[in-house]
Amino acid sequence: MTSTKNKIDKLRKNILKYEYFYHTLDESIVSDAEYDYLLHQLYNLELKNKELITSDSPTQKIGANLLSKFKKIKHFFPMLSLENTFDINGYLTFEKRIKKLINIDVAVSLCCELKIDGIAISIIYEEGILVQAATRGDGFQGENVTANARMIESIPLNLKGVDIPKRLEVRGEVFMLKSDFIKLNQNNKMNQNKIFSNPRNAAAGSLRHINPKITAKRKLRFSCYGCYFFKENNEELTTHYKRLMRCSSWGLPVNKDILLCSNYIEVIEYYKKFEKKRKSLEFDIDGIVIKVNSIELQNKLGFNTKSPRWAIAFKFFSAERITILNDVKFQVGRTGSITPVAYFDPVYISGVMISKASLHNKSEIERLDLHAHDSVIICRSGDVIPRVLGVIQTIRCKNAKKIVFPKFCPVCNTQLLENIEEKIIRCHAGLTCDAQKQKSLHHFFSKKSLYVIGLGPKIINELIQKGLVKNPIDFFYLKNIDLTKLKNVGNKKSINIINSINKCKQTTFKRFIYALGIPGVGDTVSEKIANYFTKLDELINADILKLNDIDGVGKVISNNIFNYFSIISNRNMVNELIIKVGIFWNNQDRYELNNIKKTYFFHKKIVLTGVFKSFSRMELKRILINLGAKILNNISQKTDCLIYGKNFGSKFFKAKNLNIRMINEEELESLILIEKN
Ligand code: IVH
Repeated sequence: MTSTKNKIDKLRKNILKYEYFYHTLDESIVSDAEYDYLLHQLYNLELKNKELITSDSPTQKIGANLLSKFKKIKHFFPMLSLENTFDINGYLTFEKRIKKLINIDVAVSLCCELKIDGIAISIIYEEGILVQAATRGDGFQGENVTANARMIESIPLNLKGVDIPKRLEVRGEVFMLKSDFIKLNQNNKMNQNKIFSNPRNAAAGSLRHINPKITAKRKLRFSCYGCYFFKENNEELTTHYKRLMRCSSWGLPVNKDILLCSNYIEVIEYYKKFEKKRKSLEFDIDGIVIKVNSIELQNKLGFNTKSPRWAIAFKFFSAERITILNDVKFQVGRTGSITPVAYFDPVYISGVMISKASLHNKSEIERLDLHAHDSVIICRSGDVIPRVLGVIQTIRCKNAKKIVFPKFCPVCNTQLLENIEEKIIRCHAGLTCDAQKQKSLHHFFSKKSLYVIGLGPKIINELIQKGLVKNPIDFFYLKNIDLTKLKNVGNKKSINIINSINKCKQTTFKRFIYALGIPGVGDTVSEKIANYFTKLDELINADILKLNDIDGVGKVISNNIFNYFSIISNRNMVNELIIKVGIFWNNQDRYELNNIKKTYFFHKKIVLTGVFKSFSRMELKRILINLGAKILNNISQKTDCLIYGKNFGSKFFKAKNLNIRMINEEELESLILIEKN
């Protein structure tokens, strides 16, 4: 029991702290998702341990501490909160409950409204004149913000029209448009003033500013969502909807997107419509509010301690969800890079169920300070890629075990090494590490490499497990008898695979380079390397400087290529594939394929600088490569010519100094034309 009590105390303390920041200081120090989650945890614990419920628990109170700078005002009717649901079931339970309570089984008219994300206000009009305005405060008394409310343009100082009651209280939301919030923050940044984290906080901070002149400058808006007549003297106003429309006729702003619904299908349609539309609205909404429309039924249903029984907020899923981390697994990639992956209880975010997220690297684990069984906050960054945003440290168990990055490969136990520049930790065991072997062999025979039809990861895994292959060479010696030993491989399939393996020996230089699977050497880089070197030997023996000279090959990739060919076993494997296995390609493929004769650019080492009118850089490079040129990054004695466009850089002057042939765009166009003809 003491441990439950401790847990409850800790939760209360944190929630109260977050509420103080949110309501009193207009600052969010945790996300809404985290706050809702903690409050929910506290509810559940108190539900199971009712004897521990106290009147000061955040589950029993409505809201905010009051700012001492404002005078207090007692509300005539308590300003309550709303019950929340995040799913259809929660909404359906609400509908069932109200029908049960009022003992009817026919359709109940429901008024659906947007739940604008701002700050609640109560405004009192006497004889149509604004006499008092207050914030919600703790629900019973709020702050007197009359002077500030008078500064808000959309709050009328005098009501206009007919049948204005002697005394009227309207309630609604004070909020800020997204565009005004951005402008305010830009301005505040320039003047080194407070930056608000969202339009809600900006609205709250502006309404509760000690200086009403500042409130006036902040472009606040008001939207009315409820009213009370002090004397029910107006018999025709029997529904919430009619009352709002009457408020509107007196000049009070009422949001136009209100809809009367008679069944849950219409309510859910309304919810879905605004869930989709919410991003394009001019202001933030965090859900919809559904209210029983009849005032008579509202009165019958009455209130709970915190909220009315006749209304519910059906909130949108925040893009963040909280779940339990089950494990972190360390995956070994094709090139030996180790990637931590978080596995958690599945959560539904933006229409998709997700249960794992990449943690990228060691520093991400350190940033999050992850422990096994932590409650973690998950989002989909850019609304797509699952990401662990953070950990709720306040509810971590005392003896939770910290997740640490392993020092040895989880598959082959080789010591891991860190490449600081790339921020990658790698297992360097290469093909002797089963994980890398499996992925590298699959890569070697995949579509963009030496494509072998029918040789998928399952077959490759089985071949490895049966000890039939350990490197790419072994595949070229496979026999029918080996393949037919495998699950789901019959004689026909086996013959097809063997034929395809034989066929793949005739390939292109680019495909062969790509197949080797050197880190960073993908499709595009392979093409650039293949266009630069005429022979494989030149590539195998190239030093880092030379490799770095290739257009699109930077420091990291040059190092990777150099390191790859420095390993004797890799050189031997490459040589054996060419000499013994007989892999080959036609050296002139790239020119012959394009039907191009020897051209001016053929075998010329070319550097580009500046911007071109008629070509993008990419286009120009492709044209020149197809004409047989080699594109280099830097000017050196060996450069044959520099092609320059507008706004050229220092390469222009360097080439001039070295007396290198210079070609401008006009000349270039005529040369390309001549070559094409
Ligand atoms: S009705 C007693 N309608 O949501 C029910 N509230 O927790 C009073 N809100 O702070 C609220 N839009 O300020 C209602 N159309 C709407 C609303 C709305 C926003 C805010 C309200 C309150 C919170 C409910």
